[in-house]
Amino acid sequence: MGAELITFRQAVPADASAVADIHDAAWRSTYQGVIPHLYLERMIARRGPLWWQRQIQRGSRITLLVFDGIPQGYAAWGEARGSWPWPAGEIFELYVAPIFQGIGLGRRLFAAAKLELKEAGYDRLVVWALKDNEHACAFYDALGGVELTTVPERFGGVSLPRVAFAWGVNVKSSNT
Ligand SMILES: CC(C)(COP(=O)(O)OP(=O)(O)OC[C@H]1O[C@@H](n2cnc3c(N)ncnc32)[C@H](O)[C@@H]1OP(=O)(O)O)[C@@H](O)C(=O)NCCC(=O)NCCS
Repeated sequence: MGAELITFRQAVPADASAVADIHDAAWRSTYQGVIPHLYLERMIARRGPLWWQRQIQRGSRITLLVFDGIPQGYAAWGEARGSWPWPAGEIFELYVAPIFQGIGLGRRLFAAAKLELKEAGYDRLVVWALKDNEHACAFYDALGGVELTTVPERFGGVSLPRVAFAWGVNVKSSNT
């Protein structure tokens, strides 16, 4: 692959449909059989192009992975949610279109978002993944993430464990 084929840039409102398409395809292929069907369908339906357009217009930070001029992945990031004993950034979502998965693009998208967070002043980074999403957990583990904690999250009537991975954190002194 020529380097010029793959670029990273911030999403603009005109990218909303492309982001919605990536989200739809990646969520279906990742969470079918993990998150209850109806709940998953509702979550996907809520996140259509208009929803993404509003998010981008409101200033949500979304880094796009662009392959040959077409967005094929996105990372949404910002200040970490929840309470941590230190300031941290968070990658809220990291999704690569299914046919582009497994060829090193997720690693590059993660690095691009991590760099953006560093430039925004965050040396520590947190990412949450469902424990049943074994592919994502193996991915974050391979990228050097340290497991901090596991907490339950409700999806419809089902409770699923989700794991927090962290970078730039001294686990022994983090007390989490
Ligand atoms: C998770 C995801 C972002 C990873 O991106 P990707 O492009 O598929 O992963 P890469 O090809 O960049 O892999 C990077 C490294 O992760 C590891 N890895 C990736 N998939 C793995 C798997 N299934 N098992 C074990 N290790 C894996 C490998 O060590 C790989 O390193 P290598 O290239 O040296 O072999 C992508 O697959 C995706 O979007 N999945 C669906 C959505 C999702 O689960 N997002 C995360 C939600 S929290």
